[in-house]
Amino acid sequence: MEVIRAKSDLALALKNRRFLRMEVGFVPTMGALHEGHASLIRRAKKEVSFVVLSIFVNPTQFTDSGDFNSYPSTLASDLELAREEGVDLVFVPQAEDVYDGEAHAKRMDYGRLTSAFEGRKRPGHFDGVIEVVRRLFNIVQPSTSFFGEKDLQQLQVIRHLGKVEFPSMKIVGCGLIRDADGLAMSSRNIRIREGFRDHALKINSCLMEAKNAIAAGFRVEEALALQRLILEDDPHVELEYFAAVDPDTFEEYVGQETKGRPFLIVAAVVSGVRLIDNCLL
Ligand code: PAF
Repeated sequence: MEVIRAKSDLALALKNRRFLRMEVGFVPTMGALHEGHASLIRRAKKEVSFVVLSIFVNPTQFTDSGDFNSYPSTLASDLELAREEGVDLVFVPQAEDVYDGEAHAKRMDYGRLTSAFEGRKRPGHFDGVIEVVRRLFNIVQPSTSFFGEKDLQQLQVIRHLGKVEFPSMKIVGCGLIRDADGLAMSSRNIRIREGFRDHALKINSCLMEAKNAIAAGFRVEEALALQRLILEDDPHVELEYFAAVDPDTFEEYVGQETKGRPFLIVAAVVSGVRLIDNCLL
C-alpha cells in the first residue's frame, strides 16, 4: 500500500494506474477509521480495481473550532486498517496543498439540501464539504466514489454536486453500520464519556420506536412527537431535530403521507458529542 502526501505525487501515481487501464475508486475520509469506513472500502474493492482512500480533516466544514481541534487523529491505526482492508493508495494531504493556499469555501445553495436540518444547525458546514469534495474529486479523478448513508444529508448533497459538476462519476451510498448495541458508528463515538453511552443509545431506540409506530399506522407527527418527548426528557440528551424526510429534497413528511422512500433523521448532543442517525421508514 502506497502512502502519498503531495498531490503532485498522487497525480503521477494515478496517471500510471490509468495508463494500465485500472479503474480508480475513491473513499474520502477524515480519518479515525472504524468498521463503517471498512465497509466503504470493502464495497469499493468489489466495484473497482484500484482503491484510493484519503485522510484529511477538512477545516472548512467545521462550524466550531473546538470540534475541529478535538477531532480524533489516529493515523497509525488508520493506515493499519486501510492496509488490512486492501486499500491500494492512501492520500494524506496538507490543507495548503488541497486548498492551493489558505483554506476557504465558496457559498453553495442546493435549496433545502444545504439549508435544512444539518445546514441550519451548522451554517457553512455544507459549503466546506462541497468545497473539499470538489477539490478531492478533481485531484483524484475517480470513476466511482463511496460515501456512507449515516451522513444521509451529506450523501445527498454530494450526489447533487456529482450530478451538476461531475456527471460521469458514479457516487455509491453505502448502508449505515451500527455497533452491536445499536449505536450508529461514528469517529466521534470515542469521545462519548463513560456512563453516557446509554443516553446515546436512546437516539437509535427512539428511531426504531417511531419507525414501528408508523408501520403500525400512527400518524408520522404523532409518532415523532412521542419520541421527541422521550429524548427531551433525558437531561443528558440535547435534541436538535427528529423528522421524517424525503431524502431527495429533504422536505418533511407529515400525516400518513409516506410515499417514496422516506427516512427518519435525528441529531442530538450527548455528553458534548454531536451524534446523528437515520433509518429508512
Ligand atoms: O464524511 C466525511 O468524513 C467528510 O465529511 C468528507 C466527505 C470526507 C469530506 O471532508
